[in-house]
Amino acid sequence: MKASGWASGKLVLCGEHAVVHGQPALAFAVDRGTTATVEHVDGPTTVTAHDPSPKVVGAVRQVFGPSGAHVVLTTDLPIGRGMGSSASLAVALVRARRALGGPPRGSEYEEAFAVERLFHGQPSGVDVAVACHGGVVRFQRTPEPVITPLPCPRWRAVVVDTGKVGVTATLVAEVTARRPTIDADLEAIGRLVEDARAVLHDPRALGPLLTENHRLLRRIGVSTGELDGIVGWCLAAGALGAKLSGAGGGGVVLALVDDPEPVLAEARRRGYDAWPTSPAEANR
Ligand code: MEV
Repeated sequence: MKASGWASGKLVLCGEHAVVHGQPALAFAVDRGTTATVEHVDGPTTVTAHDPSPKVVGAVRQVFGPSGAHVVLTTDLPIGRGMGSSASLAVALVRARRALGGPPRGSEYEEAFAVERLFHGQPSGVDVAVACHGGVVRFQRTPEPVITPLPCPRWRAVVVDTGKVGVTATLVAEVTARRPTIDADLEAIGRLVEDARAVLHDPRALGPLLTENHRLLRRIGVSTGELDGIVGWCLAAGALGAKLSGAGGGGVVLALVDDPEPVLAEARRRGYDAWPTSPAEANR
């Protein structure tokens, strides 16, 4: 018997890092994700994947046990670039186990969050919340997670990929070590998130809030010269707003646009991989 599960990746619209420290965040599902296909086998649990790292194998064994399963993983998400690849893997594994008839071990979110912790140590849970719900989600730990799915906006965006991996666990630890010096910036990010929620469906009002969020992320020390440069040329090419998205230190820039083409053309001219995206309404 064979069964599959799929879950989306995500982009943080506003609020990364601050969300680890109790502030709200807004994030949305993208139309890229991870598929996990499982079949029963005799013998140890094995994994076929593009990147069968020890953490990936550990995640599969946490969900399916040390023996009895062969799991094939495929993804069209870039790995380690702030697009929620590990959360999408965690939710896809949980869905595959349930599709095979495995009984729930708590909510889908709880089960997948336990898996994601293998990857990032102390994640906030926002990535898993989006992978579970799709669309746009407001997320806050109070300390329990409060997940509020929001009506899906229709605006367009461009993702520019630096091609460089940002190590989320390290960046989160570095930000944590800068507290309490940066607490005012984390609180300012939290206020921006609520302002962004109020204008979620108005890209012209939302754009400048994203750019301001980037400025605050730079202040807390998670941007790089390259990310600042990309934000600058996205704005010069007509983006309504732009920011790093995810943990920073590499990863991707999210640019809100009226028309994706000028930003895509500028990215191509500068040799960056870039693609158009929009919030993805529902999970497949
Ligand atoms: C989320 O994609 C990125 C961070 O906020 C970490 C987290 O929330 O787990 C930096």
